[in-house]
Amino acid sequence: MADSTCCVTSPRKRLMIFSGRSNPALAAKIADKLDVQLGSIELKTFSNGEIYARFEENVRGSDMFIVQSPCDSINDELMELLIMIQAAQLASAKRITAVMPYYPYSRQDKKSAAREPISARLVATLLEASKVDRVLSMDLHQGQIQGFFEIPVDHMTAVPMLADYFRYKDFGGTPLVAVSADAGGVKLAKRFINRIPGCDLAVLTKMRPDHNVAQTMHFIGDVRDKIAIIVDDIIDTAGSITSAIETLYDNGAKEVYVTATHGIFSGPAFDRIGSSGVKEVVVTDTVHVEAAGCDKVKVLSVADILARTIRNVFEDESVSEIFAGDNQLF
Ligand code: R5P
Repeated sequence: MADSTCCVTSPRKRLMIFSGRSNPALAAKIADKLDVQLGSIELKTFSNGEIYARFEENVRGSDMFIVQSPCDSINDELMELLIMIQAAQLASAKRITAVMPYYPYSRQDKKSAAREPISARLVATLLEASKVDRVLSMDLHQGQIQGFFEIPVDHMTAVPMLADYFRYKDFGGTPLVAVSADAGGVKLAKRFINRIPGCDLAVLTKMRPDHNVAQTMHFIGDVRDKIAIIVDDIIDTAGSITSAIETLYDNGAKEVYVTATHGIFSGPAFDRIGSSGVKEVVVTDTVHVEAAGCDKVKVLSVADILARTIRNVFEDESVSEIFAGDNQLF
């Protein structure tokens, strides 16, 4: 007969969400949707720039999700995430997931010239060194970033949400054409048109004579008298899109819209968008966007997608089912 004193029942799993300082509004929305309180953590920066983190409640045994999208102060926010992960690990959290809707340094994912680093890979190495258990990220710039990790990386996409926004917008019956902002983005644009019946596809190619400088070189497709929607993963200085917007109007587009998952909007971005002929720029809140900076910018929230993904990871359910299998990397 079994000795009941030998049985050890495992405690219930405990989901905890903490936010770094990069995008607390998004973290709060996620916690709200999951019906949990954001965990309490003290974060501060000493006068010499050192970052300090201390969990203000017990995290032992927890399934912890840390929301941080390093972007505005990218290096400090990345370091803050690493420090939070280490503090959680030393405080005996059972599993630590870095929720990084925007993956910092994602555009440095290969050597494009001699003697360059592969910084996206270095970020992966740093995360693993901090002892994170898994990473959640969204619309990664390139699929190979997932392969930089030995730990699981769950990939989410905002493209269906962005496509649905345009699918249900009233364009008065004018035909739509999605335009890939560069040759590398064709598969992303294809994922976008798959959600919009009758939407055509066109492609631009671009050249970068220098960092942060973009020139549209070629245009393939037909946008005449159509609503053209430029689809990209990132808008940073808005150089790529403003050059593309001009090309599309030169080729007879009736109206031009832009959509991208990550709206970084650094430097001259809002001025460029404001003075361009674009009708609307639709991005998400993967990074904190000061949308008041430009009235042409609309921000949709990915909080629901992230909350459902976190829920499924916590409950050991499928993540790809949330996206009907259409979240795989290219
Ligand atoms: C580049 O390959 C990306 O997909 C974006 O097109 C690029 O990062 C946008 O940068 P910017 O807005 O500064 O032209």
